[in-house]
Amino acid sequence: SGYTALDYGFVNTASTKSAITYIDGDQGILRYRGYPIEELARASTFLEVAYLLIYGELPTADELAAFDGEIRRHTLLHEDMKYYFEGLPHTAHPMAALSGGLQAMSTYYEDSLDTTVPEFVEVNTIRLLAKLPVLAAYAHKKSIGQAFLYPDNDLNFVENFLRLNFGNMAEEYEMNPVLVDALDKLLILHADHEQNASTSTVRLVGSTGANMFSSISAGINALSGPLHGGANEAVLGMLAQIRDSGQSVQSFVERVKNKEAGVKLMGFGHRVYKNYDPRARIVKESAGRVLGELGVNDPLLDLAQELEQIALEDDYFKERKLYPNVDFYTGVIYKAMGFPTRMFTVLFAIGRLPGWIAQWREARDDAQTKIGRPQQLYTGSPERHLER
Ligand code: CMC
Repeated sequence: SGYTALDYGFVNTASTKSAITYIDGDQGILRYRGYPIEELARASTFLEVAYLLIYGELPTADELAAFDGEIRRHTLLHEDMKYYFEGLPHTAHPMAALSGGLQAMSTYYEDSLDTTVPEFVEVNTIRLLAKLPVLAAYAHKKSIGQAFLYPDNDLNFVENFLRLNFGNMAEEYEMNPVLVDALDKLLILHADHEQNASTSTVRLVGSTGANMFSSISAGINALSGPLHGGANEAVLGMLAQIRDSGQSVQSFVERVKNKEAGVKLMGFGHRVYKNYDPRARIVKESAGRVLGELGVNDPLLDLAQELEQIALEDDYFKERKLYPNVDFYTGVIYKAMGFPTRMFTVLFAIGRLPGWIAQWREARDDAQTKIGRPQQLYTGSPERHLER
């Protein structure tokens, strides 16, 4: 074609058509398969949303029961996966343990390699949804030196996950329905976000014909960066740093505005949302409710609120249309639930899983999908020759 447009970060380049998620960044609109995120967060469950994203329609009661039943039947990891975790140091970051664990786990499912057989794609879709939360909980347990629990398939998706994480931590452990509901909502809010960096990674890897496990473990690695999913972990680090520095929130904001190296307001700004992030609004409400229910009085929440207030009134942030994103308040909630900071991005990954699956499958079914292969503008040396 002879013409190559340079577009760092793909700010102006669509890589695909997609019928899954709609975003209007100026108006703060997010819809999955046409349904507004606010309605789904209020009145559906994560498994319903997963079904909606993957199959295009909300499930009937029978379809949901079948889907849920299938997922419950597939929760168990191969027993030998314990050797994978045994081989890791207890300091292993749970995100690395998760993406590596997913890839290791895929070696038990030879049928995942053949992406041309629809039944294989179906069963591996179920395996992913059933087993990634178990891997995630084991990554958590490993990092704190506790024994793994087997899944309890009498429990629903979120209850099972919470029990796998906390079931043997305290004798008085009891399932708190407010937390189950809050986590379910947070997972819904993270379930898809069209062609973000990790989803684009899943699609790019998938475009080579690579299977779902390989594509999604690549997506998990893309998510781990602090500018993407890793921001939820980075927000807590930032808040703790402000608290420990003894300096005012205002002086931290000045450092951000002066563009001091490495100082950004984590949990603020978004490539697409230039008005507000509709997910952040729901998360903020949820943070108040969860901390209230648990009777937790976390000074980091107060700090976050103060920081948000100052930033929203400051011209630097106003001019650049920087608002809190989904990651700003999620960490405060996860912390109140008892998750260590290093698990936060893992929780994002569990939420995003249905989106990655849906996008991988959509690309696989789209006859127009070609292997992804960006152009470059060469800036290196002109031709030269060895002088020997
Ligand atoms: N703090 C301070 N300044 C910022 C921030 C921030 N968080 N975000 C953007 N800016 C400034 C940036 O320096 C630039 O200023 P200038 O025009 O003077 O050069 C301007 O705003 C435009 O920013 P950009 O870097 O061109 O925007 P982008 O679309 O490339 O980046 C972003 C989007 C999300 C990577 C960025 O806003 C950021 O780094 N935010 C902090 C990390 C974060 O919270 N990420 C989570 C995103 S939400 C969901 C998810 O997890 O993926």
